[in-house]
Amino acid sequence: MRRHRDRATWPRRVRGRRPLIACLWLLAACSGTPDSSDTGTGCPNDLPADCPADVPDYNADVAPIIADRCLSCHSPGGAGEAGHDFTTWDTLNAQQTTVLTQVYACKMPPEGAPPLTSAERGTLLDWLVCGAPGD
Ligand code: HEC
Repeated sequence: MRRHRDRATWPRRVRGRRPLIACLWLLAACSGTPDSSDTGTGCPNDLPADCPADVPDYNADVAPIIADRCLSCHSPGGAGEAGHDFTTWDTLNAQQTTVLTQVYACKMPPEGAPPLTSAERGTLLDWLVCGAPGD
């Protein structure tokens, strides 16, 4: 019953948001940005103030995002591999401040690469603010 009602409200919410999204895409196009990904100006100011009670789990939550969005470059043989091989937790944890800075400033993934969804970004930022714990 509840699920059904949720699903019924979805299309309306999505339709309501579409004009805003269209405007953002147009703005990016008009300001001469050839790629529509964030260049910094559209980067959300959403750093969590504190580590949330529900700390994201490295294996279950974080590693799959890193695998999808980062490892194409940050694994052996990749463009961003030198010193930044993120296939295991160790290097991510050791470089957590740099990783946090790069993700928060929307610098990584770089322009042209598939961007993080806002849910993925939220999970990574939460985890990093918690000190990038392992399992
Ligand atoms: C399209 C390729 C690509 C993708 C995808 C990518 N990166 Fe990078 N990244 C690079 C390159 C190239 C560098 C520069 C490497 C160097 O300086 O040795 C880099 C550098 C970095 C650095 C170091 C920056 C510094 O100032 O030292 C961090 C941290 C980083 N990336 C995190 C990430 C994270 C986290 C993701 C996924 C959310 C990601 N990157 C996705 C290519 C990529």
